[in-house]
Amino acid sequence: MMGTTAHELLIRQYRDEDFTEVTALESAGVHEYYRSAVFVRQMAALSPATFLVAVSGTTVVGFTVGTIVQDDPAQAWILRMMVRDGFRHQGIGTALLRAATGVLHEHSVKTIYLTVAPKNEPAVRLYRREGFEQESLQPAYFGGGEDRFIMKWSS
Ligand SMILES: CC(C)(COP(=O)(O)OP(=O)(O)OC[C@H]1O[C@@H](n2cnc3c(N)ncnc32)[C@H](O)[C@@H]1OP(=O)(O)O)[C@@H](O)C(=O)NCCC(=O)NCCS
Repeated sequence: MMGTTAHELLIRQYRDEDFTEVTALESAGVHEYYRSAVFVRQMAALSPATFLVAVSGTTVVGFTVGTIVQDDPAQAWILRMMVRDGFRHQGIGTALLRAATGVLHEHSVKTIYLTVAPKNEPAVRLYRREGFEQESLQPAYFGGGEDRFIMKWSS
């Protein structure tokens, strides 16, 4: 196991069993806009090739963030997919998703995962149409009441 000890302190990799406590720490005293700003800055630094925006005229009308798994570059996750209200149902989400899977594929990614709320029908339909299949239903994936489908695309 990777880890270093100093007195009673153990430093180790995050595990699934740490989810509740780490999430509580991550959310302590932080408001939502700040959290989003941190996410955008960090993903722009970590995954610039797969952080894509859709621009109409001079306005950003959507974005998607993909990231390649560090320990297994054949796998990736799409972490965000968002089209601005008023610009939906025009094919922008489809174009973003195709562009993201295309770039990830160019980077030799073979399998792409994402999560989606089962009740988010527009998103589930989009992903199914673009070849993502439901891999599992994870109850309380993001905490109580936040079940998620894990969906998978394979080249
Ligand atoms: C999910 C989401 C990204 C889809 O974006 P979108 O730009 O509306 O997606 P598309 O336009 O490509 O496809 C949506 C629908 O419009 C239809 N459509 C596409 N182009 C069209 C056009 N020119 N005219 C009419 N309908 C059109 C598609 O066929 C699709 O129909 P369906 O849902 O009945 O199958 C968007 O709803 C969104 O941002 N939701 C909020 C954030 C979210 O839930 N993200 C996913 C988290 S996992």
